[in-house]
Amino acid sequence: MTGQRWNPERYRSDAGFVAELGQPVLELLDPQAEEAILDLGCGDGTLTAKLVAAGARVLGVDASPAMVEAAREQGLDAHVVDGHALAFNAEFDAVFSNAALHWMTDPDAVLAGVGRALRAGGRFVGEFGGAGNVQAVIDAMEASFAAHPEFGPFDLPWYFPTAEAYAERLRAHGFRVERIGLHPRPTPLPGELSTWLAIFADAITTRLDDTQRARFASEVMAFTRERLHTPGHGWHVDYVRLRFAAVRDA
Ligand code: BEZ
Repeated sequence: MTGQRWNPERYRSDAGFVAELGQPVLELLDPQAEEAILDLGCGDGTLTAKLVAAGARVLGVDASPAMVEAAREQGLDAHVVDGHALAFNAEFDAVFSNAALHWMTDPDAVLAGVGRALRAGGRFVGEFGGAGNVQAVIDAMEASFAAHPEFGPFDLPWYFPTAEAYAERLRAHGFRVERIGLHPRPTPLPGELSTWLAIFADAITTRLDDTQRARFASEVMAFTRERLHTPGHGWHVDYVRLRFAAVRDA
């Protein structure tokens, strides 16, 4: 992931919905007591703690030192590791990942590491942004950059594949795909879309100064208001989740 900075306090207060909405993927994982689970992209550890509460032995890894520190403050075993460079060898019964794989833009490197980390027959269960995820916001961000050549090039830091493309990659890395599908999930925000942009689109605006960033946020809100804002209900974002369960073949 390039240039994205994370602030655990802000994440907890304004993006708590990310972990709160993780129940379906937790249920798909169905963690068992005593099994060894790698939580890939554990963030501040909110879901890692749920895996621990289920009795599993859990190691959390995340590329953000600030998030790993927040997870450790909860008493979790967490380490700063780039998901593209997992160096585990047949150590886990399951690898779990929620809302993190879209930040890892070389999926083959990630899948190779997950495959090595799992014992034969181990499960890889996750959920992340799939094709069409936050498309209304992306279109608006692109339009704002197009209107301001001084903002520089518009580069997306995310990987949002179709179910078919990701299933093919999983199979190419020796996984048997048991479940995979896209789930549109319009998601209400607790506050303004500008707050969401400040948390999640940081990597897109790192080259902008404060005035440009404010202009970018107000234009994105203006361009999306009709689709993503309802008077009296506030903002929602057009999330589309790609949820899957796969097994590493022996
Ligand atoms: C997501 O969880 O789908 C997401 C997170 C950050 C930016 C875009 C999408």
